[in-house]
Amino acid sequence: MFFLNCENKKTQVDHSVVKKVEYQMYEPSEMAGFMKAMYAYNLQLKQQIIAGETPIKMPLDLMTLHSAEMTKGKGRTEAWNSFVNVFIESQQTITDTLSNVQLKTRFNNAITNCLSCHKTECTGPIPKIKKLLIQ
Ligand code: HEC
Repeated sequence: MFFLNCENKKTQVDHSVVKKVEYQMYEPSEMAGFMKAMYAYNLQLKQQIIAGETPIKMPLDLMTLHSAEMTKGKGRTEAWNSFVNVFIESQQTITDTLSNVQLKTRFNNAITNCLSCHKTECTGPIPKIKKLLIQ
């Protein structure tokens, strides 16, 4: 099994040997868990948009970005603070049915804001996030 962390190092774990150790080695933080949920939500949005549907529901509480505990050693840096609200706003505009900006543009803008923060705060998932962009 492979885990992807911020530094993009993959850890291979032999299940037959160290089930217990594996758990101790990788306990995702609350923030990492929320990031995964954001990734899954945006992947679903991408599919909806490509299918010509208009997403109207934003099921995630983005304020979690302000409250969630991060992996030990990580914190809310100046760069984080400068990106987080811009991102939240752009993510929310995707379900704003009154916006006259093209849906695809709003979506790609939000994903670009994921990437802006990741460039300094957590480089590992960048290739994966890039794939969310609608060409
Ligand atoms: C304001 C900065 C910021 C924004 C915006 C942001 N991220 Fe993150 N992301 C981080 C940080 C920092 C971590 C590491 C969190 C931790 O380990 O506690 C992370 C972790 C992740 C991870 C790895 C989770 C894991 O398995 O450990 C994924 C995937 C991810 N982000 C995807 C996204 C996506 C998709 C978006 C946009 C929808 C996004 N991020 C927006 C900073 C950000």
